[in-house]
Amino acid sequence: MPAAANILPASTATIKQAADLLLQGKLVAFPTETVYGLGADATNDRAVAAIFKAKNRPEFNPLIIHVAKPEQLDAQIIWNDTAHLLAQNLWPGPLTLVLPRAATSNISLLASAGLDSLAVRIPNHATALKLLSTLNRPVAAPSANRSGTLSPTLPMHVAESLGNKVDMILADGKCQIGVESTVVDLTGSEPVILRHGGITLERLRRVLPNIVATNGDPRQPKSPGQLAAHYAPKIPLRMNVTNANPDEAYLLFGPSFVFKGGALRVNLSEAGDLEEAAANLFAKLRELDQPRFKGIAVSPIHEQGLGAAINDRLRRAAISH
Ligand code: TXA
Ligand code: MG
Repeated sequence: MPAAANILPASTATIKQAADLLLQGKLVAFPTETVYGLGADATNDRAVAAIFKAKNRPEFNPLIIHVAKPEQLDAQIIWNDTAHLLAQNLWPGPLTLVLPRAATSNISLLASAGLDSLAVRIPNHATALKLLSTLNRPVAAPSANRSGTLSPTLPMHVAESLGNKVDMILADGKCQIGVESTVVDLTGSEPVILRHGGITLERLRRVLPNIVATNGDPRQPKSPGQLAAHYAPKIPLRMNVTNANPDEAYLLFGPSFVFKGGALRVNLSEAGDLEEAAANLFAKLRELDQPRFKGIAVSPIHEQGLGAAINDRLRRAAISH
């Protein structure tokens, strides 16, 4: 049996409580028109790291950022005409738009897995909208289930899958749509459907007659220069290094004194805390990704818990050269 979950029916009082928990960096599962989401304050790196921990995801996938009003995105993304058109016609609704991240964005880099783009949406659900406007901050939320299990459309599904790994389940019955939002990438020269979902191709074509759907793995880059499948540093990266070269930047995990060398040394977590390391990962990688270094050396990181996802990202970064 899963540990007892804190399920509370949605009301003005419990929505306020949920917003307070999110503000404190806690995890709240909340209903949307598609599926229940596992929400965290998208501007809080530690809270976003807790999402990956709770879901037990073996890798860091970029997450969808939820807001109540389009204006809340003005400082986060760079709008374009197509985005305005889709937002005006189909938001709130089961449509996620991938857009370039604005320089002024304060959203956690972990939430977008280090990418230069952000996936954003306004859900069409009264409780979700009330929660998002009460909090008045962007909320990162993947589906509220453990990795590899079915997406939850009822509060009980969330409780069965996540138990007490989620601080509160804001319960409001069954999700109407039952499949995730349609994801449309607007960062390239043409809009591209990355994931089919709650908004049909036909409905999208009524707004954008020429929209194309990707075939195969939607996370693969479709053409050079378009969306990277994952964050790739510009300089080479090597792992499991206990003694870095003098011309390398050194990314450490655990007590610094154990490791030797490196031109610039930054620590993901001096205390060896994997959640702290996950929260810091992309920001620290970017800090070290400078042409003045020969490469980035990374000290060993153990594979358990979030370590698996951290190492997965680093391995991809290592082979991207
Ligand atoms: O209906 C939904 O979309 C639900 C509810 C809770 O809103 N959320 C959801 O989130 O399904 P998640 O994390 O399970 O799915 C995120 C999807 C993935 O397919 C991911 O690859 C894509 O969005 N995505 C997120 N950020 C992206 C980015 N910057 N570039 C490309 N794809 C991105
Ligand atoms: Mg999911």
